[in-house]
Amino acid sequence: MSLLDVKNVKKIYTTRFGGSQVQALADVTFSVEPREYVAIMGESGSGKTTLLNILASLDKPTSGRVLLKGRDLSTIKDREMAAFRRQNLGFVFQDFNLLDTFSLEDNIYLPLVLAGKKYEEMKQCLNPIAQQLGITDLLKKFPYEVSGGQKQRAAVARALITKPQLILADEPTGALDSRASDDLMNLFNTINQNGQTILMVTHSVKAASSANRVMFIKDGQVFHQIYRGNQTNEEMYQKISAALAVLSTGGEQ
Ligand SMILES: Nc1ncnc2c1ncn2[C@@H]1O[C@H](COP(=O)(O)OP(=O)(O)OP(=O)(O)O)[C@@H](O)[C@H]1O
Ligand SMILES: [Mg+2]
Repeated sequence: MSLLDVKNVKKIYTTRFGGSQVQALADVTFSVEPREYVAIMGESGSGKTTLLNILASLDKPTSGRVLLKGRDLSTIKDREMAAFRRQNLGFVFQDFNLLDTFSLEDNIYLPLVLAGKKYEEMKQCLNPIAQQLGITDLLKKFPYEVSGGQKQRAAVARALITKPQLILADEPTGALDSRASDDLMNLFNTINQNGQTILMVTHSVKAASSANRVMFIKDGQVFHQIYRGNQTNEEMYQKISAALAVLSTGGEQ
């Protein structure tokens, strides 16, 4: 069984005033198998964040279906949804979504607190992740006291701390310099090899070339996919660059 099945998902936003409509997703269909590592690329405004929000059930599709572990998300009751999301998903938001009145540490603990874990257990989960992300010395600081890249790494730690089966990451390297970005991609590769499934939106060809599959979104649909097979990161890099060149020519944006 696929971990994730996305079937003919369409999303139309209706603006509050004037009633004009924006079609963010036209017809998106794909599946993700357990232990896959998929990068999603596409121009700004092509619907990538919309898609991730729907997969995380933070937003509802206008039509179409999303099944996670065979379960249709639309059939999960609102009061069950928070627990279902917490048990299965880690989400790294494009704008980090850290709470300003919480220290980085408390932000990272949040999903564990909500799951009712004990402090000692939480601490044991945090230490190795904080170390891998290089934020151990920043844990007592507040989001407004640290840089964008440091906030981003705290947001990644918060998504990883529950060891979710599926990680949805929206531009997780967007605020990072090249070294921090390489470190994060190495961490993603490690957790993926240890069995976690990753779906990562990225504008970075380098970041995408460490995934096992790259999916390109254009005009609200899956336009093209590249599978790694036994290609090296360098070969993936070349193929992704070529695909992006095709994607941007003839586009209406
Ligand atoms: N809440 C909303 N209401 C109305 N339109 C929206 C809303 N959210 C997104 N859109 C529109 O839907 C389209 C897709 O937006 P989305 O944020 O999914 O793009 P994206 O691919 O994530 O872009 P980026 O790479 O810039 O993050 C855009 O045209 C956007 O303006
Ligand atoms: Mg986006």
